[in-house]
Amino acid sequence: MSLKVEIAFKLNGRSVAREILTSTSSLQVLNRDFDLAGAKLACGEGECGACTIMVDGVSRNACLMAGVDLDGRDVETVEGLWEGNGLDPLQEAFVNSGAVQCGFCTPGMVMQAKYLLKPGKKLSRDEVIRGLEGNVCRCTGYHKIIDAVVAASGEAS
Ligand code: FES
Ligand code: FES
Repeated sequence: MSLKVEIAFKLNGRSVAREILTSTSSLQVLNRDFDLAGAKLACGEGECGACTIMVDGVSRNACLMAGVDLDGRDVETVEGLWEGNGLDPLQEAFVNSGAVQCGFCTPGMVMQAKYLLKPGKKLSRDEVIRGLEGNVCRCTGYHKIIDAVVAASGEAS
């Protein structure tokens, strides 16, 4: 039996609350209860990174996180990266590097990259490669994605 419970948390900088079923994942809560389609369901097993979000500043696979565990947390999704009417510099780097093809993996890649890119820290290409190991892309061959994240970190790729 699935019970309902109210959760309240910060979502992309706004305080929100919803009544959710205790059986739902964080990914389902974001997709269904908040109409946020950026984080995607692909493997559903923590293997592909398509559902990557940030919770309290740490990247998480939303497919593996219970919805009730969002309660009281600070949650960021790719939708929160918009700055006014424009793209975040990291998203710009993806566009400029040609790192987006079908785009299915892109929100998860961008959120994982956001986690890796700490202010003031430049990442080497190897650090970017290691940091994105949990994110799968079936289209790009990864090179352009890595170029984008290296460029966003301020290193020449
Ligand atoms: S859908 Fe969550 S890791 Fe693949
Ligand atoms: S751009 Fe298609 S899966 Fe990565």
